Amino acid sequence: MSQEGQSDAPISVGDDGTPTVFLNPDHPGSSDRDYRRRRNAILAAAQGYTPGDPAPEVEYSLDDHECWRFIRKELDARHHTYACTAINEASEALGLPYDHAPQLRTVSQKIGKLTGFGFVPAAGIVPVEEFYGTLADGIFQATQFIRHSSIPLFSPEPDMVHEIIGHGTALADKKFADLYRLVGRTVRRLETKEAVNAVSRFFWFTMEYGVIKERGEMMAFGASLLSSYGELAEFRSVEIRPIDVREMITVDYNYEQYQPILFHAESISHFEDAISEFCQSISDDSIGRLMESKVWV
Ligand SMILES: [Fe+2]
Repeated sequence: MSQEGQSDAPISVGDDGTPTVFLNPDHPGSSDRDYRRRRNAILAAAQGYTPGDPAPEVEYSLDDHECWRFIRKELDARHHTYACTAINEASEALGLPYDHAPQLRTVSQKIGKLTGFGFVPAAGIVPVEEFYGTLADGIFQATQFIRHSSIPLFSPEPDMVHEIIGHGTALADKKFADLYRLVGRTVRRLETKEAVNAVSRFFWFTMEYGVIKERGEMMAFGASLLSSYGELAEFRSVEIRPIDVREMITVDYNYEQYQPILFHAESISHFEDAISEFCQSISDDSIGRLMESKVWV
């Protein structure tokens, strides 16, 4: 997971080195001792992760599995109405289970066979340069905890439902996986914070909240839309502008609420062209000019 959306759960480390996830008092799992224990155990396992190994096994509880069963079924139904064809086909190919919460390592192996991408566990906040940079290597850094089962249709932070059903499904499609890699390579060659932030904002309005037109309808492919039960049903009623890079990297957004402005491409190939042109054109020198005037698209 990238830095956006992580502020809800900062981490502290005790004198003995044990990490603790801080949940705000209004977090659905804040008063659930077992849930907090699992969150801390998942964090500790991620911190102990050795690159190159499969993601650590997580002991999901019966409530966690029930939560997954519920959200998996509900999102699946919405995807048939609101997700683009490529996403539904990728979902079919990926074949995520309906009856139990999957292990990140298992999903990672399946995606690897389809597109070469893989998941590794994210141990807390991942700096943006590192998060996007590792995409170039076909690596997506993901959380392994699941939202609290008391509110299965909502998560105040990106959880494994977001990572696996949102990003994982897109990464099971070769075109989208290639575009994730392209974003990674682009960030790798940039040095200024301003330019990296511009790519991050572009990612936000595409890989997280991207929409394309299909058969006259707006269809979602962005991971945040795909993993949000409520927002999927409402995104067609917000302002959806034609894709415009300058607007996308300058418009205000708040990751804690439904997005009031989205951007759409006319087709996947139109989106591919737009992201390719952006990634080829952006540089540490050009970013200032781009913020001032419309240069692309
Ligand atoms: Fe995300």
